[in-house]
Amino acid sequence: MSDDNDGIANTSPNPHISELIERRLSDSRRGFLKGGLGAAALSFVGGGSSLLAGCATSQQAYSSPGVARPAALGFKAVPKSTADSLVVAQGYAVTVLFRLGDPIAAGVPAYMNNGRDAAASFAQRAGDHHDGMHYFGLGADGKYSPTASNRGLLVLNHEAITPPFLHPTGPTIASGARTVPEEVLREFYVHGVSVIEIQNAASGWSYKQDSAFNRRVHTLTEMILSGPAAGTAYMRTRYSPDGTRTRGTVNNCAHGYTPWGTYLTCEENWAGYFRRVAANDNPKRSPKELASFARYGVAGNGRELWATVTPDTADNLYGRWNAEVRGASATDDYRNVANTYGWNVEIDPFAPGSTPRKRTAMGRFAHEGAWLAKPAAGKPLVFYMGCDARNEYIYKYVSAANWDPADATGGMAAGDKYLDNGKLYAAKFSDDGTGRWVELSVSNPAVSGYSAYTFADAADVVINARLAADAAGATKMDRPEWGSVDPVTGAVYMTLTNNSASLRPLAATDAANPRHYNDPRTNGTAQRGNPNGHIVRWREPSPESLTFAWDIFLFGARAKAPSDVNLSQLSDDNDFSSPDGLWFSEVSGICWIETDDGAYTDVTNCMLLAALPGAVGDGGARTVTNVDDKGAVKQVRTYVGAAPGDKLRRFLVGPTDCEITGITETPDGKTLFVNIQHPGEDTPAANIADPAKFSSHWPDGGRSRPRSATVVITKNDGGVIGV
Ligand code: FEO
Ligand code: CA
Ligand code: CA
Repeated sequence: MSDDNDGIANTSPNPHISELIERRLSDSRRGFLKGGLGAAALSFVGGGSSLLAGCATSQQAYSSPGVARPAALGFKAVPKSTADSLVVAQGYAVTVLFRLGDPIAAGVPAYMNNGRDAAASFAQRAGDHHDGMHYFGLGADGKYSPTASNRGLLVLNHEAITPPFLHPTGPTIASGARTVPEEVLREFYVHGVSVIEIQNAASGWSYKQDSAFNRRVHTLTEMILSGPAAGTAYMRTRYSPDGTRTRGTVNNCAHGYTPWGTYLTCEENWAGYFRRVAANDNPKRSPKELASFARYGVAGNGRELWATVTPDTADNLYGRWNAEVRGASATDDYRNVANTYGWNVEIDPFAPGSTPRKRTAMGRFAHEGAWLAKPAAGKPLVFYMGCDARNEYIYKYVSAANWDPADATGGMAAGDKYLDNGKLYAAKFSDDGTGRWVELSVSNPAVSGYSAYTFADAADVVINARLAADAAGATKMDRPEWGSVDPVTGAVYMTLTNNSASLRPLAATDAANPRHYNDPRTNGTAQRGNPNGHIVRWREPSPESLTFAWDIFLFGARAKAPSDVNLSQLSDDNDFSSPDGLWFSEVSGICWIETDDGAYTDVTNCMLLAALPGAVGDGGARTVTNVDDKGAVKQVRTYVGAAPGDKLRRFLVGPTDCEITGITETPDGKTLFVNIQHPGEDTPAANIADPAKFSSHWPDGGRSRPRSATVVITKNDGGVIGV
């Protein structure tokens, strides 16, 4: 079910790219070849695969010093498993580092894990649903050290909650309202971000419970709004009448990091937390406001019913989750509160007292994460981003300022310089294997002239980035999740976790989202659409370029699926479904892939795989034959990366009902940190009284409630992981 927690669909009428006439071997594409690949590539002007072959050649120049990608993986594949245990490749050790509820300040008692730990104590405990994560080396001077491998700050997101296990008997709800404020307060704290100091001693890795760096950021933490939307009328609330601040962050999914040692936590499915009952509120709203709410899914009672607690407090602890017009003006209520969520939030882990900043220039959508291209002195900084919902878009942010390596010690001031002023783009994939970035600004005539929504200014564009991307003709994708830049080739990889038959029907398949098929479960239950997902990758002449060449690195599938489904020729050693986390080691060059799956769970729990990829264009063009439930057939031409063979292997399988997500390493590549999110989450709340009915007891075993946790993986011989 975990894959379904992401889920508002793009219902805009934007065409899929196969409906667009985009076969342009024309000037823009030749310009790309000339500008990016050199004269030698100009001979590749035939079909898409020839073009890609030229692109692959150009990648040799990128290779980062220090990254030594091996010719083969150095471990045996782990078999698929449905056991309630965490299994890692032979020759490796796993220890549990940081679990839901673990105390992060002196004097905070150990977690009881029975739902009775005091709500306020969670301000100093690990949150739930560990997700995106980054290791920052901590030098002896207490500052960021990119080379420190035995002491660091681990920063991780707590995306959401498994309510049955948080309270004595699950959430208490009567007549559609939360009736125990203590439970709601606990939930406020267990969302957000943890910063913990960790160290590697003779006894192995542990976190330092009393470190002055330890910090929780959660839904009660004050945030500064910065960038083009800050201080505008769109952001005014009773909490911040001038629209420069907001309170809290929520649904922090994946993440990013900056060259100056700060962390970006990315707000994903924030829209569902707000209460906005259409019958109450719609008559009080302008057509533009209604269009925005509809496009982002700000409607309903609020997924955790936080706004239903009565009485509210003087500072609207609960009422701030009510986004309806209730007062005389915008500064008397929280009608605009949803505009203050949906951003990338910068946190300086080395300054525990600093106020996080929501960077509005990077756009507002269901942010999965923000992944940095390798910085180059004198060039803009570039972040790639995905909007995780079905048929949403891939974005990139290009800073206005050019990178100055002297800013590597700049802290949040560097964030102000690079993250508050830049251009936002969305990706348009053409069916000839090329693509381009379309600008989201009022200077783009497609945006300023959009008939469905009139953009007033730059703030309106970043707040309603999804609508701007609709206007600009971006390509609807099969749910973008994590991205990462290959340190060897510079290509950008992004997972597209899956899509449904109703939202990617046969007719809507296109070259970049080419499959529509049935993936029957073992019991014969049909699963149609693109239930197993794929991983797209693209190569730009340079990160700030507006053109690219793409192919599909991997297609998820059961090993035994037919060849038009199992396009990457996966075997029992590496078959997978619903890729979500994806991250390149900066040491080994391994591409690590994590799954958040609900389709292949009849055969295996979620997993972590290691891949040694080639380059964009190392496979070729392929025509896929798709069939829908009525027997209709559609053939789609796409570009499939070289079959991975044994350069893709399963490294780890997690416990029951978990998602594997969040992954980072020490700078020496010898310690890998991985998050195990929501083990046992499919346990019904009705079963909470009987531990025998929990679907998982991981990691503590016995009759315990399951807990999300960070684990540490090391190689028994002390070497680099995976090689
Ligand atoms: Fe929170 Fe897109 O996974
Ligand atoms: Ca997911
Ligand atoms: Ca995810």
